[in-house]
Amino acid sequence: MNQEEFFKKITSHAKEYGFVFPSSDIYDGLSAVYDYGQNGVELKNNIRQYWWKAMVQMHENIVGVDAAIFMHPTVWKASGHVDAFNDPMIDNKDSKKRYRADVLVEDYIAKIEEKINKEVEKAKKRFGDAFDKEQFVSTNARVLDYKKEIEEVGHRLYAAMEANDLAGIKQLIEDLGIVCPISGSRNWTDVRQFNLMFATQMGSVAEGANEIYLRPETAQGIFVNYLNIQKTGRMKVPFGIAQTGKAFRNEIVARQFIFRMREFEQMEMQFFVRPGTELEWFKRWKEERLNWHLSLGIPAEKYRYHDHEKLAHYANAATDIEFEFPFGFKELEGIHSRTDFDLGSHSKYSGKKLQYFDPETNESYIPYVIETSIGLDRMFLAMLSHAYTEEKLEDGSERVVMKFPAALAPYKVAILPLVKKDGLPEKAREIMNELMPDFMCQYEEKDSIGKRYRRQDAIGTPLCVTIDNQTLEDNTVTVRDRDTMEQIRVNANELYNIIRKKVNGK
Ligand code: GAP
Repeated sequence: MNQEEFFKKITSHAKEYGFVFPSSDIYDGLSAVYDYGQNGVELKNNIRQYWWKAMVQMHENIVGVDAAIFMHPTVWKASGHVDAFNDPMIDNKDSKKRYRADVLVEDYIAKIEEKINKEVEKAKKRFGDAFDKEQFVSTNARVLDYKKEIEEVGHRLYAAMEANDLAGIKQLIEDLGIVCPISGSRNWTDVRQFNLMFATQMGSVAEGANEIYLRPETAQGIFVNYLNIQKTGRMKVPFGIAQTGKAFRNEIVARQFIFRMREFEQMEMQFFVRPGTELEWFKRWKEERLNWHLSLGIPAEKYRYHDHEKLAHYANAATDIEFEFPFGFKELEGIHSRTDFDLGSHSKYSGKKLQYFDPETNESYIPYVIETSIGLDRMFLAMLSHAYTEEKLEDGSERVVMKFPAALAPYKVAILPLVKKDGLPEKAREIMNELMPDFMCQYEEKDSIGKRYRRQDAIGTPLCVTIDNQTLEDNTVTVRDRDTMEQIRVNANELYNIIRKKVNGK
């Protein structure tokens, strides 16, 4: 199965099993907006909670905030979003389709990379075990030509983007002969800047209405509360403020399912530090955040850092934690050293002194900030793509099993009476009632036990508990493990500890 087919399977599985639905599905959906179904909402809540626990509960110097989505319009002037939160867009005059101009060029580069991969695959077949990939890609003439082209195109694109040279980007598209994927024509408009913020009106009368924005990141809700929280919480630098919540971006290219959405959720933390110590803290947070990902038991090779060479004007270090999605390594989380840009700018625009008096140095200063920012929906997609597994079983049958980390699984345990009679359902419910206050449980009595196991595998339930006639005699039940499919017989009184051990995310 190639990666494209694999990705299609994940998206259809997500819909079939109540994880993710297109928004307003009965009206054929809304582009790049999605709803989370009965299993999706549990998985999403568990990811959020796992993050919150690690960031807030486990750090005595990090506290939370829940700021409003609507903010004073000047916030976005101060943050730079009104003037600079833009993507370059281009329209094809024949298909009337709109594209992100830089993405058209990046897709062109991706096609060359695809050609390199094909050359590698061909050579692998030709040379068999003796094949040395490193040597091949550094010596093969055709591959070297491709690599040179990628470098040249990339260089032209990034130089034009950096210099905000929209005519230069258009020229590049023309020089590369890029055609519209729909119309096949090269009939392009000029490249224009497109601001990604959604604007709306606040106030009921048209004349008095103010234009305000739906927040494009949660971070600014933290910056504007910096002083409130520092003072009322008597916080001492270094300290952090964490927030989870919705953000909105009018993405020009919205594709790859929930990877790039117009309404999405972020989990962000701003860590306020003494100026001069920020790069040390940046390094610590870079490691700590990767460790958070690894703590879920996902193999380390699925992650990599991508350090930014070109930095935003306010940053002095930035890195992405990339995850290997079915469509390649892509950004999952960003860690940024934002200097004193945001607090400094809000001080200027608001006229309020957003400073900290450091009792250890007897100085007042604007703290520097390290930000960790992860998309909850992207993390959800990472978990879906990691978990989705097709297995052929010993008896020749097949199963699809979602191998979610147990701490994140939507349901922790399924309670299954072997048959719907002989007092087994009653006993099963008695056992479930004991477990329900602590764990998400699902009760199922319909269909054969084999079919019920398959349904639980498909939603990733780590443990199934089966109640049979022997349970009525000696209070023992069968516990089946999702991944190994091994079954053990235990006393029902032991269930709490067994489940707790399995699903705790410490
Ligand atoms: N406050 C910094 C900030 O917003 P960002 O790199 O623009 O930085 C942070 O976004 C994270 O938010 C990304 O790493 C990604 O996981 C998520 N994200 C950004 N845009 C998204 C979108 N359109 N759909 C889903 N997730 C998105």
